[in-house]
Amino acid sequence: MFRYVAIALYNKQRMGKEAKAEIAELRETLRRHEHLYYVLDSPQISDAEYDQLMNRLRELEDRHPELVTPDSATQRVGGKPREGFVKVRHSSPMLSLDNALNEGELRDFDRRVRQLLGDASYRYVAELKMDGLSMAAFYTRGVFRQAVTRGDGQAGEDVTENARTIRSLPLRIPADLPELEVRGEVIMNRRAFERLNLERDEQGLSRFANPRNAAAGSIRVLETQVTAARRLDYYPYFLFVDGAPLHPSHWESLEALAAFGFKVNPKRRLCADVEELIQFCRHWEARREELPYEIDGVVAKVDSIAQQRELGWTAKAPRWAIAFKYAARQAETVIEDIGVQVGRTGALTPVAHLRPVEVGGVTVSRATLHNQDEIERLGLEVGDSVIVERSGDVIPKVVRVSSPGSGRRPFRMPANCPVCGGKVVREEGEVASRCINTDCPARLKESILHFASRGVMDIDGLGEVLVDQLVDRGLVGSVVDIYGLAAEPLAGLEHMGKKSAGKLLQNIERSKQLALPRVLAALGIRFVGQRTAVLLAETFGSLNKIAEADIPTLENAEEVGPKVAESIFQFFREPRNRVLVERLREAGLQFEHQQTRPKAGPLEGLIFVLTGTLPQLTREEAKARIEAAGGKVTGSVSKQTSYVVAGEAAGAKLEKAHALAIPVIDERKLLEMIGE
Ligand code: IVH
Repeated sequence: MFRYVAIALYNKQRMGKEAKAEIAELRETLRRHEHLYYVLDSPQISDAEYDQLMNRLRELEDRHPELVTPDSATQRVGGKPREGFVKVRHSSPMLSLDNALNEGELRDFDRRVRQLLGDASYRYVAELKMDGLSMAAFYTRGVFRQAVTRGDGQAGEDVTENARTIRSLPLRIPADLPELEVRGEVIMNRRAFERLNLERDEQGLSRFANPRNAAAGSIRVLETQVTAARRLDYYPYFLFVDGAPLHPSHWESLEALAAFGFKVNPKRRLCADVEELIQFCRHWEARREELPYEIDGVVAKVDSIAQQRELGWTAKAPRWAIAFKYAARQAETVIEDIGVQVGRTGALTPVAHLRPVEVGGVTVSRATLHNQDEIERLGLEVGDSVIVERSGDVIPKVVRVSSPGSGRRPFRMPANCPVCGGKVVREEGEVASRCINTDCPARLKESILHFASRGVMDIDGLGEVLVDQLVDRGLVGSVVDIYGLAAEPLAGLEHMGKKSAGKLLQNIERSKQLALPRVLAALGIRFVGQRTAVLLAETFGSLNKIAEADIPTLENAEEVGPKVAESIFQFFREPRNRVLVERLREAGLQFEHQQTRPKAGPLEGLIFVLTGTLPQLTREEAKARIEAAGGKVTGSVSKQTSYVVAGEAAGAKLEKAHALAIPVIDERKLLEMIGE
């Protein structure tokens, strides 16, 4: 007996050792691929392969919780939401920089530096001034330990768990030092920012005004999962040990950071003099729109740390650095009129018609005013002079009234829809006024544009000009009618020919293959954006199940609260929506969810074969359930098959199962195994 216990113990330890080695190897591999993907922007493996490695690591760590360490790739997104943030004092103040607003001021700065340094020669490091918030990150013996925001410069907030979700922030670095501090900028790039605002539109939440606010808001949320979904980035610009730079020059610090695996901005330059510095500033001012993130200027730092010490600090800022600030992309113009646009949900959006004006190199003649409340907040009337600004958003906005116009007139939301004449209603507690006519052509047009848009049904070529014609000529009276379009009438439309009509029909046909989450998002249910659609599809497995679910069942899905559940429930109770869904099914769209990623679950590693008619589930549904629980479904019975699920009138496959002695189960047993 003792012997068996001893052997079992020995086996466990041995397996523990093997697991330990495999875990270490997986972590290293994942670290390398994260660096390739998030820092160097040049992935070497597919997302699916990455997921596979990650799943394997998760599996091993689940089995050996004692081997989990905080620098493991699995530890980026933690568990429980926090109550609040703890204040932390900085090791040395995180001060700000003096600004130079033009070339003259930059030369003044250079003159001061030259005078203070006597005859010595010196160089500048020029870096882009990224528009985010600064954050310090601490590493103990190479392992990420803590992150603190700048706060008021003296003390900031401990945002460690949220910072951990930033994929470009390494959790482990090859630094053989007991303590290390990195300072840098947390930013949100333009794509992540636009995606976030679209999602917020869909959810009826207010937009973030610019990427900086979005980044600052995202690092300070209480649920780590929310920060993770926001896709922040971290670009470091200082490396300290005990509050002092580790290298003799700033340039070397930056190189060391890059060698540690940080995302140091490669758009930097070592400048021999102020002329080169000015050239760098001008170069990027002209090209700032091409960058994937927002910058608001250039930071110049004297390169030599010894010279930095010589120059020292004022009470507010270092004398060895300066921020060259680009002019704000603002301009003054006049509101000539305020029009109203009708959106997909019938929401009326007031739009300012501006006297055309150039803002940061782009001529602007429209600006959204969002809603009646926003107009009141601005105190805006037609005829006023206003300041317009372009930041992050492509759509410019009105910042404030600069001077009220003489003969100004207030804007009133119309009582009737400007497109169909239907009644306009503003419901209690809502900011938007809506046209309540569901047949309103403006709503239909917007619905089609949404349906066809990128990231939804991806129907290239179905743009505004075409949709206008399709609706105005009565060729399309409902979104689903696009699946019945024929080449001939299409080819006769303006800006269309035989060839583009053929291409469009091909794209429409191809959209039928898109997965269920796309279809769900395409329906335009309020609060159901792309992300929620994926979660719903994963939870329920089919559109039918979602359409039939009651509110408490809907709330079972991740991230679906009462408001979203109510909206989904109501959508599918509306007879016209039911007709739409039925017709989309007939058109051949995907209503069943194909699990893309094998998930860990009760059926993990098991292979099933389905045969005969099951009492409740269709073949597709059964397959989706098995896959959702981590199992696999194949078409024919072999020695590899774990179970054959047999229903009524099962035939040859059942016989083969008996011949190979493969266990045969029924639907009830299958559901039991899944845990339902
Ligand atoms: S150095 C002593 N370098 O700009 C202050 N700052 O106005 C050292 N920023 O608070 C700051 N990119 O949030 C530095 N490459 C860069 C920067 C940068 C953006 C931000 C940072 C700082 C502000 C200074």
